[in-house]
Amino acid sequence: IEEGIQAAKILTAAGYDALNVDAGTYDSWYWNHPPMYFEEEGMYRPFGEILKKEVDVPIILAGRMENPDIAVEALGKSCDIVEYGRQLLADADYPEKLRRGRLDEVRPCLGCHEGCLGRISRGPVSCAVNPACGREAIYGITPAPKQKTVLIVGGGVAGCECARVAAERGHKVILCEKLARLGGNLIPGGVPEFKRYDHQLVRWYERQLELLGVEVRLEQEMNATEVEQFPADTVVIATGSVPVKLRQEALAAAVSADDVLMGRVVPGDKVVMIGGGLVGCETGLWLAKQGKQVAVVEMLPEILGGPKALPFMNYSMLLDLMNYHGIKILKGAAVTSICGNTAVVRQGENTLELEADTVISAVGYRSENSLYEAVKGMDREIYNVGDSSQVHNIMYAVWNAYEVARNI
Ligand SMILES: Cc1cc2nc3c(=O)[nH]c(=O)nc-3n(C[C@H](O)[C@H](O)[C@H](O)COP(=O)(O)OP(=O)(O)OC[C@H]3O[C@@H](n4cnc5c(N)ncnc54)[C@H](O)[C@@H]3O)c2cc1C
Ligand SMILES: Cc1cc2nc3c(=O)[nH]c(=O)nc-3n(C[C@H](O)[C@H](O)[C@H](O)COP(=O)(O)O)c2cc1C
Ligand code: SF4
Repeated sequence: IEEGIQAAKILTAAGYDALNVDAGTYDSWYWNHPPMYFEEEGMYRPFGEILKKEVDVPIILAGRMENPDIAVEALGKSCDIVEYGRQLLADADYPEKLRRGRLDEVRPCLGCHEGCLGRISRGPVSCAVNPACGREAIYGITPAPKQKTVLIVGGGVAGCECARVAAERGHKVILCEKLARLGGNLIPGGVPEFKRYDHQLVRWYERQLELLGVEVRLEQEMNATEVEQFPADTVVIATGSVPVKLRQEALAAAVSADDVLMGRVVPGDKVVMIGGGLVGCETGLWLAKQGKQVAVVEMLPEILGGPKALPFMNYSMLLDLMNYHGIKILKGAAVTSICGNTAVVRQGENTLELEADTVISAVGYRSENSLYEAVKGMDREIYNVGDSSQVHNIMYAVWNAYEVARNI
């Protein structure tokens, strides 16, 4: 902070008319590019407040300022101008929607960096939840040449995106979801407080589908016969993915991360997580923040697929938080059996015993593509989108659905 104050004074003395204040360095990159794991929005406000007392030029402040209450509170106190970065990638109409009080129509930024900074070395900046971002002129939504009736099966993010784009293009869309609510994997995924933007995205889809007149049929599981008999020109299967189950008898006592996230299982105080991918690590962090003692056991040499699998700011912040909250991380290790309140772990030549009131399994997801396989030969335009086509993440589910819906 002292160095920042000095820099600000040097810059203003040299003639700078305003300062755009944020924080972080290449060693703490998640401060410059804040992932969803920050507890508070408007995380640069304390720094703006300090600088406002030190220099006499307008202070500009970004850093998740999209909550209008936070923005208004900051004006005059921590800054003179509020700035929006990623929110404008996720929804370029944000300022206009804010002005008109239509906040329920704002597509939220997830803080994931998958589509923006995470891709910067691989292509143009875009956005996970807004596939047209950065290429609006060539990749926007255009009216369909002929109206069709489109049946979409599955109301996860892929099905919802497909429904939204198809309806916006003028098609008549019916979306069938077997559960009582939309969202699919975003429902468990958005349970930890730090993943709340996932639930915001689901609310945004619900509102969009309502505004666009999509007929959403909840608690309607579709089978192959029903799909084949449905009077639709086009069918889109978006049945998503389900957790991979551990097959070993010795691990039968493990419960799934989904069950824990959804509150179907309440874990004890000592938790061993099998699997150090994103779901295992985030669920582990969520439990550690509740005061539980957590150990994550990962077979591979790195958790989270190593520093290059996720956008680096998200990876390093999650890792730092896991360490900060005392999560024990065992790499190159496997849980071989669960005996009472003990998880037996093999790590190289060593065998360890970890105390475990609850063992949780988070070993990945597999495509739920049985419906697609059963109907793919039918004599109609038919697509498989999102995780049911290939298990990936929110961005790929949205982008895949958008691409398909643009072409119906
Ligand atoms: C706990 C968790 C955390 C995650 N965290 C992240 C993250 O931080 N970032 C990220 O990018 N990705 C994350 N993911 C992955 C991401 O959520 C998925 O890739 C994405 O949601 C897939 O969307 P989808 O619509 O293809 O499938 P799903 O979300 O699985 O949706 C499929 C829907 O189809 C319905 N359905 C299935 N069969 C039928 C049928 N026969 N009839 C009617 N409806 C049916 C299901 O009920 C479900 O609602 C996470 C996943 C989980 C489980
Ligand atoms: C694609 C992208 C590029 C960015 N480039 C810079 C940059 O060159 N210099 C900088 O100081 N901040 C940069 N930032 C950080 C933003 O200025 C901003 O501080 C940060 O995104 C947090 O604000 P937000 O929550 O409104 O996005 C960039 C952010 C994004 C998403
Ligand atoms: S890619 Fe993710 S972090 Fe970047 S603007 Fe879009 S939603 Fe926000």
